Amino acid sequence: MIIRNGKTTHLIGKSVSYIMHESETGELLHFYFGRRIADRDYSLMTGEWHETLGSGANEFSLEPYPQEYPAYGYTDMRSPAYQIVNRYGNTISRMRVKEYIVHKNSAVQTEGMPCLFKGENNADTLEVVMYDDAIDMEIRLYYIVFEEYDIIARHAVILNRSTDAAKLYSAYSANLELPMGGYDMIYFTGAWAREMNMQRTRIEPGMRYEAENARGISGHHMNPFVMIASRDATEASGEVYGLSLIYSGNHSTVAKTDQLGQLRVQQGINPMQFAWTMMPGESFTTPQSVLCFSSDGFGGISREYHKLYRNNLMRSRWTHRERPILINNWEGTYFDFNEEKLLKIAKRAKEAGIELFVLDDGWFGRRDGDNSSLGDWVPDERKLPNGIKGLAEKINALGMKFGLWFEPEMVSPDSDLYRAHPDWAIHVPQRRGVTARWQYLLDLSRDEVCEYVIEAVSDVLRTANVEYVKWDMNRGMSDMPYPGYAHEYVLGYYRIMDAITSAFPEVLFEGCCSGGGRFDPGVLAYMPQIWASDNSDAVARMKIQYSTSMCYPVSAISTHVTASPNHQNGRITTLKTRADTAYAGTFGYELDITHATDEEMDEIRKQIALRKQIDRLVHEGELHRLASPFEGEYCTWELVSQDKKHAFVFTCKILSVASSRAPRIKLMGLDPDKRYIDKLSGRVYEGDLLMRRGLRVSYAQEDFATEILELEQV
Ligand code: GLA
Repeated sequence: MIIRNGKTTHLIGKSVSYIMHESETGELLHFYFGRRIADRDYSLMTGEWHETLGSGANEFSLEPYPQEYPAYGYTDMRSPAYQIVNRYGNTISRMRVKEYIVHKNSAVQTEGMPCLFKGENNADTLEVVMYDDAIDMEIRLYYIVFEEYDIIARHAVILNRSTDAAKLYSAYSANLELPMGGYDMIYFTGAWAREMNMQRTRIEPGMRYEAENARGISGHHMNPFVMIASRDATEASGEVYGLSLIYSGNHSTVAKTDQLGQLRVQQGINPMQFAWTMMPGESFTTPQSVLCFSSDGFGGISREYHKLYRNNLMRSRWTHRERPILINNWEGTYFDFNEEKLLKIAKRAKEAGIELFVLDDGWFGRRDGDNSSLGDWVPDERKLPNGIKGLAEKINALGMKFGLWFEPEMVSPDSDLYRAHPDWAIHVPQRRGVTARWQYLLDLSRDEVCEYVIEAVSDVLRTANVEYVKWDMNRGMSDMPYPGYAHEYVLGYYRIMDAITSAFPEVLFEGCCSGGGRFDPGVLAYMPQIWASDNSDAVARMKIQYSTSMCYPVSAISTHVTASPNHQNGRITTLKTRADTAYAGTFGYELDITHATDEEMDEIRKQIALRKQIDRLVHEGELHRLASPFEGEYCTWELVSQDKKHAFVFTCKILSVASSRAPRIKLMGLDPDKRYIDKLSGRVYEGDLLMRRGLRVSYAQEDFATEILELEQV
């Protein structure tokens, strides 16, 4: 709901309020974002500020004022939301409100980029038109508010209304001003095979805190999701703000307190290596930043994003559907396979109850290793004499679906594509391009390159019965031809994703980027699941999945059971530990199942049956994280159905400690007045006991011992 009350505008969500106010001088000030308040009396807020922003001409200053989209240099010297180099060569700008437009029952879209949609929900959009007549530049600020959520989605459009070119140096999507108080910043760092390390730092006065990445992709190194929390905030309590950017390129989230102790937070495209020229009449649209507020700690924030992204971001027809249990051949065979070997794996997988066979890297060109053929999406007949079509038919004849790996944004120097179009690789003319994993990125800023990618992938999908695509991307960007290029690339990537996913709406797409290098809401808009990490070790995955779930729904996290010892870190774990950890995800296997013993085959059958039983919980359940692997020896999470009748609990004692007792686990979200049976052990528990006294699990006396419960109300 959007209420316009004189100069004050009040956006009301499920249980949040977002309030802005136009000063007498036309500036758009920020008043409040937090727990919902009634549309009654705003005098307390307005009274706090001089409406004239100082009492005399000499004293005018924006410096102490919280603002919606501040500029730098016109009395406010803090971090700006945008910087335009105008026709006079300076960046001074003063935007004043010209008009408010309320788009009722509509979620205004960001042009050319993925964003939230309204769907079945009730959403309104506020558009504030701001203008600076000294430089003839206009900024339109958009705010979407949903009746069902505690979120405000923001983006901005900057328009050059002048008769000269202007240049953007930065354009954040959202600017958030928080009152004086103690805050922590929570952010997610990482590396290849070590994604999503949850970090928490105290925001101290005067220092600038920035969670950013400038590798052309959202990146292993920093996820475009940040939380700003009160110092006492925990998983289950305390006031927390979430900022999640629907974007797959260079991003930045900055937080800095000013001299008065107020906190300014901004999220959007990384200003580093960014510049954008706007010719007269041209505009620039920022990606969408989704702000969330919860007074129920990190868990409250997560559950909001999960619901929102499942229902109002992810467009795939597969978003809410049960996903087939898959087997992927990558860790089973790597590049060393032929049709016969693959069919053996598929046959054995079918016997275990697996439903989808995915052929990973190595099926095209002459790709016997990672140093050739990217770009040549033609089956290698030495390995696959019947092509992809023939292999898919044979897999289908076994009663399984068939899926295929692509890395369409790339070209290997040793490929027919590169030999024909060396200029299609991103490069600067004066230098030899830099390869990473023996490959170049294709220049997606060019239409003909995007067309090639769309055609090459579509061709394969048209000729063979491919029902699942793993869309990989295995290097970051270098050799950028000009500042701002990375954004052009991302727009090209979205154009491709849009074309292919709409042409093949029944295909289940999985995103991947050397594991979780591009795990972001932009990708999720097109592909309902993403491979979270090339590290498939269960214990490493506990941390990765735990922190990925802070923003992203568990149904979007691809999880596989792989071989032991693990290929990435050599850790030895039981088949049970590996599956227990993978249940809260899309679930599949990635090993040579022809080596499985009969007992292991039985165990796998049971695992698949269990995963199917809890499928709705993975898709629709509310997630509660109960013990953090970042903080101690235990990792516990729980999924509860909306009606509280069904729940799944996973817990792991990571390292075994002699002479110790496991702590009780206090479950959440159940009905305290009901009884629950654990379908796996047959034990019956009282809801209030499970939630208030807690459950003491007896873990096996070994490292990495996991236990699971499937609770059903009786
Ligand atoms: C990346 C992916 C892996 C696998 C390989 C294939 O590393 O993350 O899952 O597909 O590429 O080369």
